[in-house]
Amino acid sequence: MSRRHHKVLAPKGTVPRVPEAAPTASLLVVHAAELVTLAGHARPRRGREMRDLRILRDGALFAADGLIREVGESRELAAKHEDADEVIDASGKAVIPGFVDAHTHLVFAGSREHELEWKAEGMSYQEIAARGGGIASTVGKTRAAPEEELYVAAHARLSEMLAHGTTTVEAKTGYGLTIDGEMKLLRVLERLQESHPAAVVPTFLGAHAIPPEFEGRGDAYVDLLTREALPNVAAKTSARFCDVFVEDGYFTGDQARRLLSEAERLGLVGKVHADEFSDGGGAGLAADAGAVSADHLVHASADGIRRMAERGTVAVLLPASSLASRIPFAKARHFVEVGVPVALGTDFNPNCWMESMQLVVALAAHQLSLTPAEALTAATINAAYAVGLGREVGSLEVGKRADLLVLDAPNHRHVAYRMGARIVETVVRGGRIVWRRPAHTP
Ligand code: NIG
Ligand code: FE
Repeated sequence: MSRRHHKVLAPKGTVPRVPEAAPTASLLVVHAAELVTLAGHARPRRGREMRDLRILRDGALFAADGLIREVGESRELAAKHEDADEVIDASGKAVIPGFVDAHTHLVFAGSREHELEWKAEGMSYQEIAARGGGIASTVGKTRAAPEEELYVAAHARLSEMLAHGTTTVEAKTGYGLTIDGEMKLLRVLERLQESHPAAVVPTFLGAHAIPPEFEGRGDAYVDLLTREALPNVAAKTSARFCDVFVEDGYFTGDQARRLLSEAERLGLVGKVHADEFSDGGGAGLAADAGAVSADHLVHASADGIRRMAERGTVAVLLPASSLASRIPFAKARHFVEVGVPVALGTDFNPNCWMESMQLVVALAAHQLSLTPAEALTAATINAAYAVGLGREVGSLEVGKRADLLVLDAPNHRHVAYRMGARIVETVVRGGRIVWRRPAHTP
């Protein structure tokens, strides 16, 4: 994190190359109608805790050198820090932590909008894959794409996410599926870490699909991943996590366990694409393997969910993915009721082109039946824990990175309420304003 630099977004079409050193700067936010702090225990929130936003009325926050230094009452902080470099008067507005998107497939070439006609005909995700669409088609394009092209495309997507209020983005590989191809995607992610104002958390997803060269030889591909790819990833890249897609036609539970135990031995923390299209035992597998999160979980069994609660495995729910693949929504209330910490992500990928965590929060409220407070907790502090950054971001507490959003709305419920609107007015990342919504002209 220390090598991160802070830049205001470059205009579309240009990519900042040489990051400037972050200058010393201080920021004062005052008179927030609601300062949604999400302060609390240093662990993911579960059950009733997910409704406890710890809101300060007429709240204020002071940040310096990228970190939150004080949180409190407006009159007091305003008097103390009137010489702050930047002052935001948030009168009548809610201020919330920056969104953390806990699950994306950010780096790939091309797009798959033509699959919409196939979906309109009623074709399932698996039928689309069998017809030459799906992951394999994106793998073909991504393998052929130069690194620079992938970097420019991913940079633009990240900028769009940031402009919707996402200040931290988990990003998976998984469209190379060769050692070189996956390392190319990890290099792109590392360049984004260096150059983009949003924070990027790379995850190795070499086990996204069986590549064409290994058709019918999944075990041999998993051998390659465990013997050659993982040691390289662990030693030479900034990836912190190893993910695996456990599903019929992709990876079996045994293969996933083998991969995750080797990953753990090498210092990578597990994540699992679990029970998306069928109950493949992914939820329980993730819990038993000590994964930080299990993601999707549409068909997770009650027993698997119980084991997740026991282990504290975070459930990363992805309502936009259900929408895009036309499958049921995960039973979020059940996860909350049994005490599994719930987080949210966009699942941004070529099948589910969703850049907005605001809309994901709205979907979570309308389709997962989370309350606005639970959905916000899931999109901030719990998502931060799902990507290993729960002590650094996800809430507005002293010592955390000053990542926050000023909303053009009087209270936090509007995030869940206003579907598809961009209500984020100002995005602050590391104490610096990195995006401002253009003013409406009457
Ligand atoms: O999380 N489920 C597997 N992987 C992605 C989809 C990737 C793709 O279709 O390209 C997901 O939904
Ligand atoms: Fe995914």
